[in-house]
Amino acid sequence: MAGGIVIAASGNKGYPGKLTGKVFITCIVAAMGGLIFGYDIGISGGVTSMPQFLKKFFPDVYRKEELNIGGTNQYCKFNSQTLTMFTSSLYLAALVASCFASIVTRTCGRKISMVLGGSLFLVGAIVNGLATNRLMLYIGRAFLGCGVGFANQSVPVYLSEMAPYKYRGALNMFFQMSITIGILAANLINYFTSKMKNGNGWRYSLGLAAVPAIIFIIGSLCLPDTPNSLIERGKQEEAKERLRKIRGVENVDEEFEDLVNASIESKKIKHPWAKLLSRKYRPQLIFVTFIPFFQQLTGMNVFMFYAPVLFKTIGFGNKASLMSSLITGIVNCASTLVSIFTVDRFGRRVLFLEGGVQMFICQVIITICIGLKFGVNGNPGVLENWYALVVVIAICVYVAGFAWSWGPLGWLVPSEILPLEVRSAGQSVNVSVNMIFTFFIAEVYLEMMCVFKFGLFIFFSVFVFGMTIFIYKLLPETKGIPIEEMAEIWKAHPCWRRYVVDRNEKPPNVMSYEMTEEVKIETKEV
Ligand code: BGC
Repeated sequence: MAGGIVIAASGNKGYPGKLTGKVFITCIVAAMGGLIFGYDIGISGGVTSMPQFLKKFFPDVYRKEELNIGGTNQYCKFNSQTLTMFTSSLYLAALVASCFASIVTRTCGRKISMVLGGSLFLVGAIVNGLATNRLMLYIGRAFLGCGVGFANQSVPVYLSEMAPYKYRGALNMFFQMSITIGILAANLINYFTSKMKNGNGWRYSLGLAAVPAIIFIIGSLCLPDTPNSLIERGKQEEAKERLRKIRGVENVDEEFEDLVNASIESKKIKHPWAKLLSRKYRPQLIFVTFIPFFQQLTGMNVFMFYAPVLFKTIGFGNKASLMSSLITGIVNCASTLVSIFTVDRFGRRVLFLEGGVQMFICQVIITICIGLKFGVNGNPGVLENWYALVVVIAICVYVAGFAWSWGPLGWLVPSEILPLEVRSAGQSVNVSVNMIFTFFIAEVYLEMMCVFKFGLFIFFSVFVFGMTIFIYKLLPETKGIPIEEMAEIWKAHPCWRRYVVDRNEKPPNVMSYEMTEEVKIETKEV
């Protein structure tokens, strides 16, 4: 059974070192990069549901909503191309920026990319906060997008390189944690600014994006670069010293040697993008493409971008909608902690699989609830309290499932499976695919809601089903394997072996294959 294999390859080294306070703090600071991404995800939905914002920038949508033009069909109430463009334009900019970020991250170091990311985001926040017309809104969002592109390209890589391999999962997930804190902060801010009497609440919501940007810029300026990046740029001595400091031990020779070897290999490669397409890197290419694709096709961002709009659509009042999106924000944030505490103990696969099943069940329940009440014509009549409660609970359980599986793992796994020579390029593919499909969901969601009606969540559940099988069959466990040793897991995996092992090369000394159904098969050297 291909998928159920946990591999302990002979190359599984145990570098000495511990989780030092320095690394812990460094990772928390670097993870702040997630704040800017999260803040933006959380703020757009609330802002686009504020009447004063709509009246000023999107009067057509405002009229449609306020005057109930378009009838009582709740499914199509908010469908406006210009409005969705506001939310989704950022992701196009992020997608382009992440490709440039790959070059900067590789040649100038992770830290420079992070500082640049924060600075671009800051410019975007200022332009948006001062916006007087639609053009300013879009320009601001382009800057915000570039900031997100740079930050998302560099931060996960930085975290995975800094962390001792035994704690890599948890430390990398600080990134997701700060995404969720950013989303929650934005939800809270929207909740208060929407009540402002002067009609300028949206301005505060958009302008306050400057705060996470400033935190991230200052934090990044204080951070050291990773040993991997220093070696990559020829600063060997400094790198060894850095490694000693962050591992908290004198003897880092073995890890250092492996990093140097990885760097020598990496230097031989002049075109990392082309290299990533070669057969040898097929498993990495597949995962850095499909993991972000599937992460977005879980449908999570329907809730993150449009929770207030969605809750309004299914009959909640203005206040109740913002309140409910606040609740999903809290669940999202709290559930991420579960993955931080479990990922290095139980591994990535368990979380991926459990989260997938949980999301699937909730999507079916949500579909039934909305279908029963709204039918195909979208006229629900009176909504009882118990009904609203069931929908909110199902959405919260779904959000929790995402928050401890595909959310954090969608950033962790791609960043830890890439060898140094294609790490920056591969991470850009990850960010770009993520952004393309984030854009896609933001763009088409309102249209899809109008066309698919209550069947919308069935659409996503089909993908959730597919992605769970995909992980089960194809992803080997990456827990507890040093990042520069990761090549071994593909050599020992029945599906990926033929791509990565040269015909003449001896296969790795695979110690054991452990089947998920508790069946253990001991194998000798094949
Ligand atoms: C995803 C975002 C999503 C967020 C929700 C992230 O991992 O990339 O698209 O909005 O999680 O917490």
